[in-house]
Amino acid sequence: MSKISKADEDLRKMLSEKRIKSDADRKVGSEVFDKRTLKTLYKLANQGYLKVLNGAISTGKEANVFKGINDEDEFVAVKIYRITTSDFKKMQDYIQGDPRFKVNTSNKRQIVNVWVNKEFRNLKRACEFGVRVPHPIIAKNNILIMEFIGDKEGNAAPLLKDANITNPEKTFDELVNYIKILYNNAKLVHGDLSGFNILMKNDEPVIIDISQGVVVDHPIAEELLNRDIVNLLKDFKKLGIKISEDEIKSKIMDL
Ligand SMILES: Nc1ncnc2c1ncn2[C@@H]1O[C@H](COP(=O)(O)OP(=O)(O)O)[C@@H](O)[C@H]1O
Ligand SMILES: [Mg+2]
Repeated sequence: MSKISKADEDLRKMLSEKRIKSDADRKVGSEVFDKRTLKTLYKLANQGYLKVLNGAISTGKEANVFKGINDEDEFVAVKIYRITTSDFKKMQDYIQGDPRFKVNTSNKRQIVNVWVNKEFRNLKRACEFGVRVPHPIIAKNNILIMEFIGDKEGNAAPLLKDANITNPEKTFDELVNYIKILYNNAKLVHGDLSGFNILMKNDEPVIIDISQGVVVDHPIAEELLNRDIVNLLKDFKKLGIKISEDEIKSKIMDL
């Protein structure tokens, strides 16, 4: 069988196995899978990154996350950004001021592509410095494929805000340490850290959704760092952790 016809068959299989059951999912299906997105999925399938695309794990404001299976029969998470509903103004503001990206365009599709690339690069950087995030696998156009955080049966790990945390103090310390490594070594600020963007796998926190992450000398880095700390503290206060914002900040900045 030629490579193309195999990919064709894989894509058909992938799309037919896409379990679009609920109305919400059906709506998402037509919204996410515009022609270009399908073409990108086709390419990724052809390159072995994806052979099955299962139902949506999450349908967010700007992106949908699906569970997929790659040619090695491993689960992967497939994050697909929608061109139609993305907040371009915010994306532009965050991209400008980041020396890694030079974007001179108001083309929405191109801005989203840079945004996806930014998430990929941020994940890679975090991984390199030992911060537990999903390993990025590939970014292509508006699609990011990364390590699936979940169990062997394919159940996604719960969000920190919904998880049963056995040792809040330990989890909190691990997260503060990750923020510290991100800031001092990877030179990044997450920018949207809270119980909504941390998964709990085997009692260990895994930080996700780092697309808006900025380099530390970005004009809004400090403001974002403060917000991350406040949000994290809010979530852990409910779990009995008592520590002040200033204390954490001096821990993170090594004062
Ligand atoms: N690598 C992953 N493995 C498993 N589930 C994931 C992964 N990445 C994201 N998810 C799930 O998808 C949801 C949305 O992903 P996220 O990156 O936070 O996008 P959004 O921009 O929509 O908030 C998460 O809350 C989580 O439940
Ligand atoms: Mg999120």
